[in-house]
Amino acid sequence: MNQETFNNYIKAGRIAAIARDYGKSLIKVGAGLLEVTEKIEEKIIALGGEFAFPPQISLNDIAAHYCAAPNDKTVFKEGDVIKLDIGVHINGFIGDTALTVVLSTDEKLNLLAEASKEALNSALRIIRPGVTLSELGRTIHAEITKRGFAPIRNLSGHGLGKFIIHDKPSIPNFDTGSKEELVEDQVIAIEPFASTGAGIIYESSNPTLFSVKERKPVRSPMTRAVLKDLEAYNGLPFTLRWIVKKHGLGKASFALRELKNMGVLREYPPLPDRAHGIVSQAEHTVIVKDKPVITTMLEED
Ligand code: CO
Repeated sequence: MNQETFNNYIKAGRIAAIARDYGKSLIKVGAGLLEVTEKIEEKIIALGGEFAFPPQISLNDIAAHYCAAPNDKTVFKEGDVIKLDIGVHINGFIGDTALTVVLSTDEKLNLLAEASKEALNSALRIIRPGVTLSELGRTIHAEITKRGFAPIRNLSGHGLGKFIIHDKPSIPNFDTGSKEELVEDQVIAIEPFASTGAGIIYESSNPTLFSVKERKPVRSPMTRAVLKDLEAYNGLPFTLRWIVKKHGLGKASFALRELKNMGVLREYPPLPDRAHGIVSQAEHTVIVKDKPVITTMLEED
């Protein structure tokens, strides 16, 4: 990895980490999800970052992919378990990081948050070139199950590429038996999810998160104008709210619907646990080396 690429990863990771911790400080009983999301976005921009994906704030049984809707009225309440997932890029090089805020003193819910955090820490401790995906999955699984929870098996950590949020390899949250090894300078996000329920998520409905998966010629001028803006994301995910802000709800909804029907868009609906168990998550981005570089960890973490 050349120095410039390395520096981009370090900068992206640091901005993502600052935004994550800032977001954590804003998540309180009575605070609005939309308002917190917008403050995090402003912070990322102020720090010179670009969005690798929109800030995601997923509540309770939703593991991931909940993004504030244009007029989102969600307010955090006592008892909520909140996953905050942040993605920042610098010149396409991504920092991806997440944590869980528990708005409760309930012992079990706090243990749930500890489970994903300690699963992440246990994986970070063994990362080096040559470690197998099986070993990573096994240590994540062990930390979660020994606290009495289920790792989510159909969500996984992932490689990161330039403008690619989910690259190879897929880092499992259980032992898949894979003998595939991490290699020097690979950039990966480790993200264990722990659930009080099934440990399997499904795709629900009403996505607000999308990406352009394939370019196609578009006739309608309205849709063409929207698509032109979407191209600036370089295939990275964006959210309906951003498009509404620029084009208005009517035009944005029309264009996204048309693009979806044409097969241009990929949708990412919210992902709840199948048994509607409560879910926690923790995530860091790592550059694999003998002494791994955790780009999204701040000195004070
Ligand atoms: Co990730």
